[in-house]
Amino acid sequence: MNRKYRKTVIAGNWKMNMLASEIKPFMEQLKENLPKVRTCEMVLCTPAVMLPAMIKAGKDCKVAAGGQDVSRYEKGAYTGEVSASQLADIGAKYCIVGHSERRQYHGEDDMLINAKVKALLGKGIMPIICVGESLEQREMNLTMEYVAYQVKAALSGVDASQLRRCIIAYEPIWAIGTGKTATAGQAQEVCQGIRAVIRGIYGARPARAVSILYGGSMNARNAYELLAQPDIDGGLIGGASLKPVDFSEIIKATNQE
Ligand code: 13P
Repeated sequence: MNRKYRKTVIAGNWKMNMLASEIKPFMEQLKENLPKVRTCEMVLCTPAVMLPAMIKAGKDCKVAAGGQDVSRYEKGAYTGEVSASQLADIGAKYCIVGHSERRQYHGEDDMLINAKVKALLGKGIMPIICVGESLEQREMNLTMEYVAYQVKAALSGVDASQLRRCIIAYEPIWAIGTGKTATAGQAQEVCQGIRAVIRGIYGARPARAVSILYGGSMNARNAYELLAQPDIDGGLIGGASLKPVDFSEIIKATNQE
């Protein structure tokens, strides 16, 4: 982290878990365990149908709500889709884009992800752009090349003032839901590489200001060391964000110099 130059963000990705009725008890327990001094921005990304309940329940402990996906289209005959205007209208502040599960199970490619990033930015929602390599790509030494391509494609046509509203999340696919975390060194190396890619496009100042999160089996035990890395500005957390105590422990781990 480097709080002098950028925001620290701890974002939970609930994926397709939890029920709207479970949000209130979750938030009550979270509130009990939250530190008095807040050293990060807190976000919970829920399924779209649960966002109104999350927005309501999150106000009390200043947890922002985010979506997990968005349509690239503004409106129209796209059955089942949710638009950026609809997310903004109910009060979502963030939205995950390009999660590897969307890429893998829904065939999302980098061009589509770029269109979604722009749709969100157009409505004032902060995209949390996910990138990350597969195990095969890592073993073939293609990690940085692949991740650099994903970052460049997602940000294509995004100007420097819009970049200030973007968050990047580095999530190596092999570390998601597997209990296998990237070592702090591995995660730092790629996050530093992502910042260098952004520096190459936008210059030093914008690159210094962009928050880059790590995601992939982040938990209460490994969070401190990951967050101690200079280019890791927070976490995108799956499994551990479903448990209020674990999630609050990760939030507490941002309190370090
Ligand atoms: P886990 O923390 O469960 O590995 O999930 C990470 C993730 O995919 C967050 O978007």
